[in-house]
Amino acid sequence: MGPVVTARKKGKTLSERANGRPEETTVEDQNVLTNRQGHPVYDNQNQRTVGARGPATLENYQFLEKISHFDRERIPERVVHARGAVAHGYFEAYGKIGDEPASKYTRAKLFQKEGEKTPVTIRFSTVIGGRDSAETARDPRGFAVKFRTEDGNWDLVGNNIAVFFIRDAIKFPDVIHSLKPDPVTFRQEPNRIFDFMSQTPESMHMLTHLFSPRGIPSDYRHMQGFGVNTYKMVNENGETVLVKYHFQPKAGVKALTQEQANAIQATDLGHATKDLMDAIDRGDYPEWELQVQVMSDDEHPELDFDPLDDTKVWPEDRFPLLPVGRMVLDRNIRDHFNENEQIAFGTGVLVDGLDFSDDKMLVGRTFSYSDTQRYRVGPNYLQLPINQPRVRPATNQRGGQMEYYVDLGEGQSPHTNYEPSTLGGLREADYPTHDEQGPVIEGRLTRKRIPRTNDYAQAADRYKLMMDWERDDLVFNMIDLLGQCDRHIQERMVWHFFLVDDDYGNRVGEGLGVKAADVAHLEPLPKQRLTDEDQRRLSNLGNNPPRELSGEQMTGSVHVMRADEESTNGSAGNGAAYSASSMQPSRSNG
Ligand code: HEM
Repeated sequence: MGPVVTARKKGKTLSERANGRPEETTVEDQNVLTNRQGHPVYDNQNQRTVGARGPATLENYQFLEKISHFDRERIPERVVHARGAVAHGYFEAYGKIGDEPASKYTRAKLFQKEGEKTPVTIRFSTVIGGRDSAETARDPRGFAVKFRTEDGNWDLVGNNIAVFFIRDAIKFPDVIHSLKPDPVTFRQEPNRIFDFMSQTPESMHMLTHLFSPRGIPSDYRHMQGFGVNTYKMVNENGETVLVKYHFQPKAGVKALTQEQANAIQATDLGHATKDLMDAIDRGDYPEWELQVQVMSDDEHPELDFDPLDDTKVWPEDRFPLLPVGRMVLDRNIRDHFNENEQIAFGTGVLVDGLDFSDDKMLVGRTFSYSDTQRYRVGPNYLQLPINQPRVRPATNQRGGQMEYYVDLGEGQSPHTNYEPSTLGGLREADYPTHDEQGPVIEGRLTRKRIPRTNDYAQAADRYKLMMDWERDDLVFNMIDLLGQCDRHIQERMVWHFFLVDDDYGNRVGEGLGVKAADVAHLEPLPKQRLTDEDQRRLSNLGNNPPRELSGEQMTGSVHVMRADEESTNGSAGNGAAYSASSMQPSRSNG
């Protein structure tokens, strides 16, 4: 054998190599195929055999390396959000949050200075299908952004719908199992989905979004992004506020009807990925404005919902959307596996000045993401170039499968992988300002639902704030899938819809042959908590006036264009770029 080796130029350290990949090559012609040992491959068509007809030899290193690497080419796909598209770009701060200097609310460095740019990587995704599944699915879309700040990474792992199905992380495996294929038939079965949802009244708000057109965004460029969970911001004085994050697309929000989605899916499983890549390639860079809603950091007993409940939005007339900066995507990936399969986002990945709230979903999520990534990618997943922060980490973590380099700090002794030490080890950082913040928390250990569940009122707001075509689409889609379910499941779902809004109950019920009188006898679910208003509606099911609209503006109620609708100046149907909600109710349902 014996490779043709030239003199190697002075080697670079691993950290100097672009993408961690050696830039030097040991063979003369840089286009020559080699194996991973750097040996040139002389014949890539034939194995080494005894004579032309075989048998094959076992010491056939090149063949063994090639085939055994191929055998391991896949890593486990994400248990959810397996199919996704990644792009790179930047976030540009306004230096303000609304009209106030950003420092009023947060000391996070990336927001402070007008025009300051932070590199970002974003991964859009669908949730339920496998990694080769169709991008036309009726499914929430993931909207996960990695901000590579000077203080390390900040991940905002959100969705295109402002609320979620459940409010306690312990229910996540159940909601996902109900939506995933049946473990026997391996088909997504409406009967399993609505079996679970009919027993989960807090899902009504999310379902009302998901079965409307925004359950199938036209592509990734024309959708909103929401942090969904409630976070906190912390300022220099250690003062905290509750925050919700929203991204508004400059190009407006567009959606597909089920019929349009079916037509695309007949010929293309990856239309949204293609749309994103093509737009960036032609210089039509997708852009969003990041906005926040802010609330004082307390329980807000005056509200009829809990600010930590992710099945609720914060009405915008009381908690206005405050612009923070803009995000632009201007670079496509170079490799799907390295930059998409192996990228890892997590809700625990925050920088100084940003913090968690006590939202029970958020806390559960924060354990789950890095746990699955240590399994899915490996314990050293944070050393991969796509996950590395901009600043060089300096840790005492050593070893583990696929350790890629040693996280030595500048000047750290390679012998000292512990702290504290007097022998050239790492030291703790100084607290930026305060190590105490936020309100005092008191309580006894318990397992309880939050008191203010109020599962129907915001679903009713949403139903009323829809445009007519959205509402028609919602009713059609509900009837379509519920029509495939058992009668008792249909009845319970129609019962919930009547508690939301009579028009909703009547229209879906009519399509299924279920009347208010058929379900009026149903008792509330075990442990279900109804508001006084819900109780009144239950005692008069099917004969109630519409609920009073609690907010004329509602996050997620922006104008939605049909995918075949012409947009004006490339912006949303409601005109102004970034214009958020402000949809007035059409009141066509009375
Ligand atoms: C307790 C509830 C939840 C749990 C336990 C959970 C768990 C997970 C897990 C295990 C993954 C796979 C991560 C990976 O393999 O890298 C994932 C992905 C994801 N989740 Fe959640 N999730 C929850 C709720 C949510 C909610 C409410 C949102 C939206 C705000 C969300 C958005 C996402 C996104 C966008 C991804 C894909 C990230 C990527 O592109 O790599 N999840 N989730």
